[in-house]
Amino acid sequence: MTEHGQAAPTDPPSDPASATDPLAPIGPAARRGPLRAGERVQLTDAKGRMHTIQLREGGHFHTHRGGINHEDIIGQSDGSVVLTAEDHEYLVLRPLLSDYVMGMPRGAAIVYPKDSGQIVQMADIFSGAVVAEAGVGSGSLAMSLLNTIGTTGRLISMERRRDFAEIAQANVRAWFGADHPAWEVHVGDLAEVLPDVAAPGTVDRVVLDMLAPWENVDVVAEALAPGGVVLAYVATTTQLSRFVEDLRTSGAFTEPQAWESMVRTWHLEGLAVRPDHRMVAHTGFLVTARRLATGTVPPQRTRRPAPGAHSEDDGGTVAAWTPESLGERAMSDRKVRRVARDLRSRAAYDAATAPDDAGAPAGL
Ligand SMILES: C[S@@+](CC[C@H](N)C(=O)[O-])C[C@H]1O[C@@H](n2cnc3c(N)ncnc32)[C@H](O)[C@@H]1O
Repeated sequence: MTEHGQAAPTDPPSDPASATDPLAPIGPAARRGPLRAGERVQLTDAKGRMHTIQLREGGHFHTHRGGINHEDIIGQSDGSVVLTAEDHEYLVLRPLLSDYVMGMPRGAAIVYPKDSGQIVQMADIFSGAVVAEAGVGSGSLAMSLLNTIGTTGRLISMERRRDFAEIAQANVRAWFGADHPAWEVHVGDLAEVLPDVAAPGTVDRVVLDMLAPWENVDVVAEALAPGGVVLAYVATTTQLSRFVEDLRTSGAFTEPQAWESMVRTWHLEGLAVRPDHRMVAHTGFLVTARRLATGTVPPQRTRRPAPGAHSEDDGGTVAAWTPESLGERAMSDRKVRRVARDLRSRAAYDAATAPDDAGAPAGL
């Protein structure tokens, strides 16, 4: 990693995978074939308890039901069962990316696999794309982006915290087995880094996972190619609202679209086939918009932006939270007076027409 540097591709290792895969160790061969020393594998026991280990010559995995020599795993097929010294079974599998990111060391909170999948699809990340992302955090999203753009694309990751950038790089390198040739990590603020590393109009997609994405609307608009996609991942509705209103105000983007996803896993046992009691519900909201061609005036919106929605000086004052700014239809004072007058007349009429014994208990 450099301040504005690109990771250098590493020499192919002398691994059998490299014999058949010119992209080794990051290519598909690394995820196929017999299990090799240096790889991470998941061991799962009969109760579903999982351990992740890195295979090495001479290594040993200890369990309270007997150990397993790594040599007994190296050379086996992915998906094999191995026995401990006390004959207990463990299923051995290469981890999937979704398993890996959930267990890897974290500096910052990660983008969960359910959202990475949505981001790749809904931001239309494609093979060979030039993608800018910030912040890189722990590198979870970066791995899904790299998987999709492949070695012919370019992922420009920006992170203002050097320590987080280092964690991300270690995580990504451990997953791919080497520095990914399409990846560059820049330590610094997106607003300062992006104009230096990407010429205006050359970035296909921008993905923002940060506290204040609205601070970067202009820089992102400058970097994006016409028709390019900006996608932001935000945790709260207040961030979502602020970002959307600033995209609109910029006039450089199409009307934003926002959504969230919830994933409910299922319990599958005999006749007890039902949703699990726990689910990954709220993680964040996703919002996308597309870059208009320079000079294009967006079609007139029929709906006005919410007045007072996050001007710099609202400062979160109670006065800013009017029914109008929350999208409610305001009732005029005149209408409120009429409703009150009608209610008073109805009460007077009810009182005048009520029978003398009204309210007396039945039967008396
Ligand atoms: C939630 S984390 C990102 C997690 C990451 N997407 C992942 O999947 O692991 C948010 C990161 O954005 C970084 N950040 C916030 N504002 C930034 C900015 N303007 N430029 C660069 N990085 C920024 C923070 O330091 C933090 O590490």
